[in-house]
Amino acid sequence: MIKNADATTIARAAALLKAGGLVAFPTETVYGLGAHALDAEAVVKIFEAKERPFFDPLIVHIAEINELPILAQAIPPKAEKLIEAFWPGPLTLVLPKTPKVPDIVTAGLDTVAVRMPAHPVARALLAEAAIPVAAPSANRFGMLSPTRAEHVKAQLSDRVDLILDGGPCEVGVESTIIKLIGEDAAMLRFGGIPLEEIEQLIGKIAIAVGNVVESPGQLPSHYAPRTPLAIIHGEIESDPEAAYLAFRDIPKGRFREVEILSSAGDLREAAANLFAALHRLDSCGARIIFAEEIPELGLGRAIMDRLRKAAKKNSC
Ligand code: TXA
Ligand code: MG
Repeated sequence: MIKNADATTIARAAALLKAGGLVAFPTETVYGLGAHALDAEAVVKIFEAKERPFFDPLIVHIAEINELPILAQAIPPKAEKLIEAFWPGPLTLVLPKTPKVPDIVTAGLDTVAVRMPAHPVARALLAEAAIPVAAPSANRFGMLSPTRAEHVKAQLSDRVDLILDGGPCEVGVESTIIKLIGEDAAMLRFGGIPLEEIEQLIGKIAIAVGNVVESPGQLPSHYAPRTPLAIIHGEIESDPEAAYLAFRDIPKGRFREVEILSSAGDLREAAANLFAALHRLDSCGARIIFAEEIPELGLGRAIMDRLRKAAKKNSC
């Protein structure tokens, strides 16, 4: 059931979460599928609803910094700096876990991923529930992430207790994930906070994106539309059976459907529009989606990472 996220439905959603139910809710990055993070039986329902393999660990969402010590054992100085600068916001930190976090949440790892979302509905829900909430993106495993409540409804409607509709997500790509153990810092996923901004604060960090040992669950086939997707370099000819994802300019050729990510060439706007544009192109009946390359700076890295994964899925 999909409900406008007002105070009454948020209170109902919080009660559902506390009782072990599943609630989809908006965050500034993408919609999440939440369950009580310290209740292993509730968390199992997330994996069932998404058809997600158990080796793929979840991110735990908190409302207040005083919840962090319940989940994480050690908060290195670099983590403190990042928390101060970017929380609440689209940054997830992977830290050594406490025994309180069930193994199902972390896929048996000795670390836990934590984030404090900025979206007012997510914040109100987490504050009202007053529990840490495990929440992956609210899509079926391997499919496109949802940036609108309707995307969640299309993939999961019969499998969740409630979908809170808080409108379109502002950031539009998932959070940046950084692992911080002692002095070491490694980037596990490009996302809503650009690498440049992280490095400005804590210096050069290792890039472990795509490294399955460091970052389990980051399979090459994530974020895929059903329609095959190919990244193109330069101009291509008209193709009435193909859909076209452009960065800023209308393509010269003619295509079945065209989406422009940002006519101003703004990478933030492009990231915010990415998944909704892919959802639309995926449902227009095209035989293939051609996607232009995006400049790989700032949020462009997160966008290209999602496009490469979408292209990979369709080529294997
Ligand atoms: O923006 C986001 O982060 C969204 C919203 C809902 O918060 N959530 C999200 O969750 O993208 P999900 O499940 O789609 O991605 C979580 C990923 C896992 O696939 C895994 O790669 C990484 O986070 N992760 C979680 N725990 C980890 C750990 N202990 N060590 C390494 N990577 C971990
Ligand atoms: Mg996901």
